[in-house]
Amino acid sequence: MTAPHQTLPLNPSTTQDSIPCWSILGAGSLGSLWAGYLSLSGYAVQLLVRRLALSDQTRSITPYQGERLSYPAQVSDIQSCADRSIQQLIVATKAPDALPALNAIRPKLADQATIVLLQNGMGAQQTIAAQFEQYAVLAACITDGAYLENSQHVIHAGKGLTRIGGLNQKGQAVEQQIAEQLQKTALQVELSQPIEQVLWNKLAINIAINGLTAVHQCLNGALAEPDKNQQVLQLCLETEKVMRALGLTVPEQGLFALANQVIAGTAANRSSMLQDTQKGQPTEIEFINGYLLRQAQHLGIDVPYNAALTAEVLQRFHQAR
Ligand SMILES: NC(=O)c1ccc[n+]([C@@H]2O[C@H](COP(=O)([O-])OP(=O)(O)OC[C@H]3O[C@@H](n4cnc5c(N)ncnc54)[C@H](OP(=O)(O)O)[C@@H]3O)[C@@H](O)[C@H]2O)c1
Repeated sequence: MTAPHQTLPLNPSTTQDSIPCWSILGAGSLGSLWAGYLSLSGYAVQLLVRRLALSDQTRSITPYQGERLSYPAQVSDIQSCADRSIQQLIVATKAPDALPALNAIRPKLADQATIVLLQNGMGAQQTIAAQFEQYAVLAACITDGAYLENSQHVIHAGKGLTRIGGLNQKGQAVEQQIAEQLQKTALQVELSQPIEQVLWNKLAINIAINGLTAVHQCLNGALAEPDKNQQVLQLCLETEKVMRALGLTVPEQGLFALANQVIAGTAANRSSMLQDTQKGQPTEIEFINGYLLRQAQHLGIDVPYNAALTAEVLQRFHQAR
C-alpha cells in the first residue's frame, strides 16, 4: 500500500525573497532526489527537462527510511527558461549527456552562474571546466543510491555521502557557500579538496567493478569468484600504475584489497552499468575504463585489460545504437 502523501512545511529561516534558487538539468533519479531534498528544505527549485509532460508538475520523494512526501518544484522545458536567468545549476544527466545538455542551456546561464556537476566517472567534468571556464564549476562525488519508481516519484534507497569541491578557481571561491546551502538539506554533504583525488578514488573502484559486471551480466558479489577476481586484480594494477604516474595517492591497502572490500560490501548490488545494459541504454564506460585508457595513452602506459574491457562494452552494448 502506498503511504499517504505529506507535504513538509517550508523551513521559515529559508523562505525570504533572498533564498537562492536551484535549477536542475535532468529530472532522472539523482536530479529528482536533489530536487526533492532542496525543495523540502525551502529552496526554490526548477527542474529542467527535455520534453515537458502534464504529469510533471506533481512530484514526490521517499526520503531514506522515510515516508512518501510531495514537494513543490517548477518543471520547465529548457526553451521556456529566460536567457541569463540561471544563477545556480545542477547538472544531473549521465556523463555522456552532460556537455551537450550544458551547451544547449548555455544562453540561459547568468554571467556569474555556478554549475555543479553530479556525473559519475571522469572526463566530462574536466571538459566542462575547460569549456565553461568563465563560470564557477564544481564537481560532486556521490555515494547515495536513488531510483525513479515512476517519472514523478523518486526513492532514496541508499544513504551515502556527497563530497563536493570547486574544479576551477571560480568554483573554489564559492565552494564553501555552495556546500553550506546543500548541508541544509537531508543529504550528507562535505567539502573535499582536492576534488580530483576524490573523483579518482571513486573512479578507481568503478573501473574495477562496473565494466566487469556488464560483460559478465552479474551482481557485484560474483566478482569475488576466482576467474573474475583475477580480472579485477589486473584492472586494479593498471589503475594504480596510471594513478601513480599522475601523482595521485593510491589507497594504502592497495586498490585490489579495497575493491574486494567493496565487492563484499555490495555483493547483492546491480551496478549502474549492469542496469544500463539491461535497460538497453548507453553506458558510462567511456568515462570510467575509457577515461583511464585515454590517460594511460597520454602517459605512454600500456593498460591492455582496460583497453579490452572498454572495447568489449562498446562493441556489445553500444553497437546497435
Ligand atoms: N542514481 C544514482 O543512485 C546515482 C548515484 C551516484 C551517481 N550517479 C550518477 O549521476 C548521474 C545521473 O544518474 P541518474 O541515475 O540520475 O541517471 P538517469 O536516471 O538516467 O537521469 C538522467 C536524466 O538526464 C536527462 N537528460 C539527458 N540529457 C538531457 C538534456 N540534454 N537535457 C535535459 N535532461 C537531459 C534524462 O532525460 P530523458 O529522460 O529525457 O532521457 C534523464 O532524466 C550519472 O552520472 C550517474 O552515474 C547516480
